[in-house]
Amino acid sequence: MSISISTSTGCKFEAIKADIQRKLASGAIRPGAKLPSIRDVSVQYGCSKNTAIRAYDELEREHLIYSVPKSGYYAVVRSEQPSSAEPLERIDLATATPDPAVMPYADFQHCLNQAIERYQDRLFSYADPLGFMSLRQALQKHLTTTQVFAEPERIAVVSGSQQAIHMLAGMPFPNGKTAILVEQPTYFGMLRTLELLGITAIGITRTDEGIDLDELERHFRTNTIKFFYTVPRYHNPMGTSLSQEQKQAIARLAERYDVYIVEDDYLADLETNRRADPIYSLNRSGHVIYVKSFSKVTLPGLRLGTAVLPQPLLETFRQFKSSADSSTSALSQAALELYLTCGMFDRHAARMREHYRIRMEALRTTAARYLPQEVRLHVPDVGVFARLLVPPPLEADDLLAALKQQNVAALPTARSYLRTFAKDNGLRLSVMRANEAQIDEAIRRIADWIGQACRRKPPLHWDPVVDWI
Ligand SMILES: Cc1ncc(COP(=O)(O)O)c(C=O)c1O
Repeated sequence: MSISISTSTGCKFEAIKADIQRKLASGAIRPGAKLPSIRDVSVQYGCSKNTAIRAYDELEREHLIYSVPKSGYYAVVRSEQPSSAEPLERIDLATATPDPAVMPYADFQHCLNQAIERYQDRLFSYADPLGFMSLRQALQKHLTTTQVFAEPERIAVVSGSQQAIHMLAGMPFPNGKTAILVEQPTYFGMLRTLELLGITAIGITRTDEGIDLDELERHFRTNTIKFFYTVPRYHNPMGTSLSQEQKQAIARLAERYDVYIVEDDYLADLETNRRADPIYSLNRSGHVIYVKSFSKVTLPGLRLGTAVLPQPLLETFRQFKSSADSSTSALSQAALELYLTCGMFDRHAARMREHYRIRMEALRTTAARYLPQEVRLHVPDVGVFARLLVPPPLEADDLLAALKQQNVAALPTARSYLRTFAKDNGLRLSVMRANEAQIDEAIRRIADWIGQACRRKPPLHWDPVVDWI
């Protein structure tokens, strides 16, 4: 959808910029709306194209608009900022589903209507358990943007990435091994699956620096690991990403020891570093299963995800999928196909990257301003989670309880560990449902509590002489 801007006198870029700023502030230009082309701006304001470009450049530098190559300029989606007079009611740093205010309902409604018209009765019967071939072809193209190359026959549509990891955990694998190695901490949903299915799970520590590769090799060498489940990018609950060197080493070890890797790339669409390739792209031996979610940047209720499978796993996966739910909802599949192929997905993903980048920047700035240096907090450039480590002897659970009393919700990272594994003393902070003002307020409250608690119980200082014991 395109909007028009009224002609104003004068042709200076400041006047154009100010006019657009006014329209963004008043809501005359809606968040996410497409702005007039450079040519239209120069015609409407009676100025040169260079002046129009300069006005847009300035607005882009101030993060009020953003550009999509070969498409144009769009208004940034800003989270609603409560006015300073408004009470900051509940602050939600716990929820990990997208903010309804930024969800592409109207675009999806359009795609759903189009899907019914285009596919008609095909939508109302059973489909291939691995998904519509036309969607798998669209996914083939879509996945190349993250360096995942695969023929559509190996791309399966799943009812959310949770379904893919649940099925993979329960399936027999060609290597004949049975135990599953998971990072500690890891995604809570995976732990619940392992427990419900009664699968032997082994943990390997993941730190802010990544995985100890010698330890990983020791585990792979034991000859019991069916697959290693990892979330290399914007880890849940840590927010960190693995380095390229670590991913290369994991890909090599998988081949050497015949251990599969289940790579959960649930936030692939938020990546800003074009060189952050997935493990899948670094492994030549067909040991990586690439899993991707569509829940974090689109509508989680549509239950859409995809899995790229090595040939030897395909038939078993098809049978498990068929037994689980016959196939993913045909209506959701058809709508996603249209959403991907008409370019709406890429535009929305660009908006979401900017949206979460702004929130993470707010978290970084406010943490640097208020948190004492004993507190460790890793804040990624984008992503949706950050982990805050509470300095002992203070307890993360006490902090959570104090925050709850002040109507601030967050989650303990302790739930992301196997029962038998030593837990950290942390909080997972999600920026999905908290805007910049709420993030600021929550961090201040955390800093206040830690400040007061430290005065009662000073944090432990490690004695460098004895810290190897
Ligand atoms: C790391 C990770 N993997 C998978 C999922 C499941 O997502 P989906 O909605 O695609 O099933 C989540 C959900 O939060 C997640 O955090």
